Amino acid sequence: MRLSLRFVIPLLLTVAALAYLVMPLADRLTFRWFMNDMDIRATLIANTIDEPVASLVAMEDSARIRQFFTRITQDERLYAMALCTSPTSAAVSTGPLPTELSCANVEGLSTPARRIVQAEQGPLLVSVRPLTADGSSMSARVVIVQDMAYITRRSEETKRYLFYFFVGLGVLLSIVTVVIAQLSWRGWIQGLRALMRGEGLLRPATDSESAELRPIADDLRALIRDLEAEHQLRDAEQLAWTPETLRGILDRELHGQNVIVVSNREPYIHVRKGDSIVVQRPASGVVTAIEPIMRACSGTWIAHGSGTADHEVVDSHDRIGVPLDRPEYQLRRVWLSKEEEDGYYYGFANEGLWPLCHISHVRPTFRADDWRQYQIVNERFAAAVADEAKSPDPIVLIQDYHFALLPRMIRRRLPAATIITFWHIPWPNPEAFAICPWRTELLDGLLGSSILGFHTQFHCNNFVDTVDRVLEARADRETFSVSYKGKTTAVRRYPISVAWPPLAGLLGKPVAECRTAVRARHGLPENQLLGVGIDRLDYTKGIEERFRAVERLFELHPHWVGKFTFLQIAAPTRAKIGHYREYDARVREMAASINIKFGGGAPAIVLAVEHHEPDSVFEHYRAADVCFVSSLHDGMNLVAKEFVASRDDLAGVLVLSQFTGASRELPEALIVNPYDADECAAALHAALTMTPGMQRARMQLMRGLVQEFNVFRWAGRMLMDAATMRRRVRLLDTQQADRIERRDRSRSIPAMNADEG
Ligand code: G6P
Repeated sequence: MRLSLRFVIPLLLTVAALAYLVMPLADRLTFRWFMNDMDIRATLIANTIDEPVASLVAMEDSARIRQFFTRITQDERLYAMALCTSPTSAAVSTGPLPTELSCANVEGLSTPARRIVQAEQGPLLVSVRPLTADGSSMSARVVIVQDMAYITRRSEETKRYLFYFFVGLGVLLSIVTVVIAQLSWRGWIQGLRALMRGEGLLRPATDSESAELRPIADDLRALIRDLEAEHQLRDAEQLAWTPETLRGILDRELHGQNVIVVSNREPYIHVRKGDSIVVQRPASGVVTAIEPIMRACSGTWIAHGSGTADHEVVDSHDRIGVPLDRPEYQLRRVWLSKEEEDGYYYGFANEGLWPLCHISHVRPTFRADDWRQYQIVNERFAAAVADEAKSPDPIVLIQDYHFALLPRMIRRRLPAATIITFWHIPWPNPEAFAICPWRTELLDGLLGSSILGFHTQFHCNNFVDTVDRVLEARADRETFSVSYKGKTTAVRRYPISVAWPPLAGLLGKPVAECRTAVRARHGLPENQLLGVGIDRLDYTKGIEERFRAVERLFELHPHWVGKFTFLQIAAPTRAKIGHYREYDARVREMAASINIKFGGGAPAIVLAVEHHEPDSVFEHYRAADVCFVSSLHDGMNLVAKEFVASRDDLAGVLVLSQFTGASRELPEALIVNPYDADECAAALHAALTMTPGMQRARMQLMRGLVQEFNVFRWAGRMLMDAATMRRRVRLLDTQQADRIERRDRSRSIPAMNADEG
């Protein structure tokens, strides 16, 4: 309501009340009071003059009576006095009486009597009293005429004062109304807003909150929080996922809790090169995915400090703020001895678990010594997590197969922690997993997690089947959870992805410039058609199969010879392991022999066994006509998604192995079986001849998916599930506490009674 109205309305109401209620009432009341006064006065006068007037009547001294009356009527309110001795006699009076007052009229009145008479000079009150002598009434009547004009005057005066009083009161009321309305409106609006935001009820219980109401308020708060969370969970499906969305989830759902990430590979590696220290970004899908999450969430990333100069740059707590130019989160480095690294990383993780989980026909090797180191190193990381935890219930995100034992170890140290473990590589079927001599321990370790994530539903199924086969646990396929040792682990599918949009700078160089620069750098003709593969030099990546497909393309379509080159960037990896060294040799040899076979002009294959930083990787993606991902088995494969993210020109074709997790999400790629060289060659040929329109249509669809299902969504969904889980745990704890309290109370009542008795 407008301010002026708030002022005027109370004022008008007051004035109306004054006019129609107060004034007439005041008029009536004052009139009645004054009439009573005048009656009393008349009686008093009559009583006072009784004796002297009776004597004068007895003496028949009219003159003295008149004189006596004239003295009394000096009072301004007494208009006249008269004495009627009989109805027929003339009145003995102080002055002319009003014409209707004659002794004959007065006689007819029963005494005491009064009458109002309208005279010229105004209203007069005529009171008639019998004259008494010695206590008995005489026949004579005393007539006292009082001037009523003063009543009108007083009444007017009273009305005036009342008017001023009520107008003042009205103004005061209006002001008070305006002020109260302003204050309460603001408060109400604020209250309403707060309520809509859920703050009113979400605010933690205060001391002032009455003890009886507190449980109800707590329940209400919890209910609202749950409803809000569910609502947001539903909304999450519609959200455009960005770093801000993720930050929002952390703030809202997890009250800004710091996130602790654990991975073996660190995001920044400091390497000594002569007198200087250079920083390298590793070729790791895990690092690629987690880095933007950490930038968004801050927190701490715990990883193995594997660089030769890592020691030199950390603080006394082995921490360093990264990215180095503008730190956004803390990297905590854990140091491993050579023996530990050999046993845990090279041995158990990469010679045992890696080939165990990938179907790539490399036998896993399990050694008891490696297992021991794996246990020791997992313990070392558990201690680091406990050290970095700022609360008893941190959110810990554990990455990959290097840390299968870590969830249980953390659970022992921090029972209230929310532990999300993500297994980035495939999970084999129960028969394959049974090869591992420590399968029970590995599963037990993983089931220390609150949530265990895989890229595909297929791998979730494999895990639950494995648990069912190996452990005495309850696997629930309805809810996809495993109950073991009294705790439940949710097994969920979260397909990982890349940052969208890609980090600033990666798309800065125009595609045309990338094409020219990359071809020039590798000594290729300006208009050479270019296929790229960018991987670690790992036997699971199917690089041999890729080369065989290129060879087959040239065999089947010789016109591509000299016009098409396949450029393979292969980042050296795990070179201490025999299988990797052998693979490296085989790949090099194969590239050389294919080049000899189709030699003459531009090379068929360019093999660059070297590490490339992200900007160079993106430059190659943008320079290519085809990107070929031919993994023999891959949890997801982020190269495929990175290639799609890099092509904002909507050109280029993705040829993708059906054995990658990514193939489920990117059906617009040319999906191939890498073991089928002819099929792969046909796909390469189709890619090289694909019209720009078709490339654009496919690329648009794939980009839409990668944009929507980006890495922020991946992390956001896990964190939201973690938040829901924390709420449920809190609720169960409260219910349990209530139950215990009720039980204790019911036990203590008979005890008290007994005491009293
Ligand atoms: C795979 C694994 C990651 C690992 C990456 C690089 O993507 O899932 O955990 O970091 O390979 O391997 P590396 O042994 O060099 O860390």
